[in-house]
Amino acid sequence: MEDVTSKPEKSLRQICQEVLVKNDRVTHTVPSGDLYPHQWLWDSSFIAIGIVQYNPARAKVEILSLLKGQWHNGMIPHMVFDMAPEYAADRSAWRSWVSSKSPDHIATSGITQPPIIAEAVWRVGKKLSKSERVLFFKKVLPKLIKYHQWMYDERDPHDEGLIIQINPYETGLDNTPPWMNQLREHSRPAWIALVEKLKLDKFINVARRDTRKLPPEQRMTNIDALMLWDSVTRLRKKRYDINKILHHQLFAVEDVAFNSILIRNNQILEDIAGEARRKLPKSLLAHFEKSKIALEELWDDTYGVYFNRDFVTNKLMRSPTVASLLPLYAGTITKERADKLVKVMKNDHSFWLRHPVASVPKNIIGFDQNRYWQGPTWVNTNWLLIDGLKRMGYEEESNALKQKTIDLVEAQGPWEYFNPHTGKGLGAKDFSWTAALTIDLLTQ
Ligand code: GLC
Repeated sequence: MEDVTSKPEKSLRQICQEVLVKNDRVTHTVPSGDLYPHQWLWDSSFIAIGIVQYNPARAKVEILSLLKGQWHNGMIPHMVFDMAPEYAADRSAWRSWVSSKSPDHIATSGITQPPIIAEAVWRVGKKLSKSERVLFFKKVLPKLIKYHQWMYDERDPHDEGLIIQINPYETGLDNTPPWMNQLREHSRPAWIALVEKLKLDKFINVARRDTRKLPPEQRMTNIDALMLWDSVTRLRKKRYDINKILHHQLFAVEDVAFNSILIRNNQILEDIAGEARRKLPKSLLAHFEKSKIALEELWDDTYGVYFNRDFVTNKLMRSPTVASLLPLYAGTITKERADKLVKVMKNDHSFWLRHPVASVPKNIIGFDQNRYWQGPTWVNTNWLLIDGLKRMGYEEESNALKQKTIDLVEAQGPWEYFNPHTGKGLGAKDFSWTAALTIDLLTQ
């Protein structure tokens, strides 16, 4: 006899939780099972923000394992590698051990990523009992202070208040058009130009994990991947020594997304210190103040948005992307400028497509609806905007974006990114930060 009792449908929250459990590697959560088998800085921070909603103890572990990768100089690396023998080639691509500053017994990358770990620590702490929270904060605070201090010591060479990024991977928006233009114009080696000219780039697919598993038109192009790989090699050859790197550096930018995230996380660091009844060094607080003011130098009144700046030429890079809107997350900008950003964000010919917010506005050359950070909608940047809009008093816009984000994931599942016109899920299928941040949005 046919079974007429159908199983109850799984809720979106359940689906997302199952993805996180599937990607759980006990001490940390990988962004996606087979595509990204290591631990990433901003991924794990977002992941902890989701996990804490159902398992605060496990969320704490996510943060602590990330901190195990911290370098002696304070840098928290953008990747902490799985030490299993099968990943030797991944570890050796970065060879963190060439630097005396790298941690012992653990291989990492040699650069950082958007500093959103204080936000994660704060949100994890909120779900703990008062005494547990204070203990947790006291434990991680010295490491967070050291990290923020490192950014100002090593990555603000002119003491301007803005932190520089020395590789596109540091911004998390890897192949966003402004970075690729920058690499193409200033640091494309002759051999890559030749590969491009002779159309030999198709052979690179063999060496790429992602294009073997996913449709190449959803990933960065082979030439872009080669340029990124080359820029990592240059850093490695200089043993990740910032003085040597800056001496010959062709890629050094002040990313508006990174700096907006830093400014918000500076504030949160102060809050964490307050709860732990600890004082932050005065010199560090002075840097925090300077950063808020310096962010305004990235404002462009003609476009009504913020732009990244080239550290070498000190010129704004007038190529809008979702990063241009992220000072809304920083939360320190004036109402007048915030109003202008919201207007640009809501423009349905640029960012606010059927499934907002596009990572690159539709009306610029370089927009590619399916390709990674060159057009698709990402849940993490939406989450930053939803949070920022709410704090800045744009309740209606924040709620509208929240609902659209939840609907998108509900319809498609927790994919890595989404086509902003059709909503189709793209990239990796069961992607951890999409799942984690959706759980957070559903809980808010
Ligand atoms: C890609 C993304 C980056 C992310 C990483 C792991 O490199 O561009 O932002 O952290 O994958 O998911």
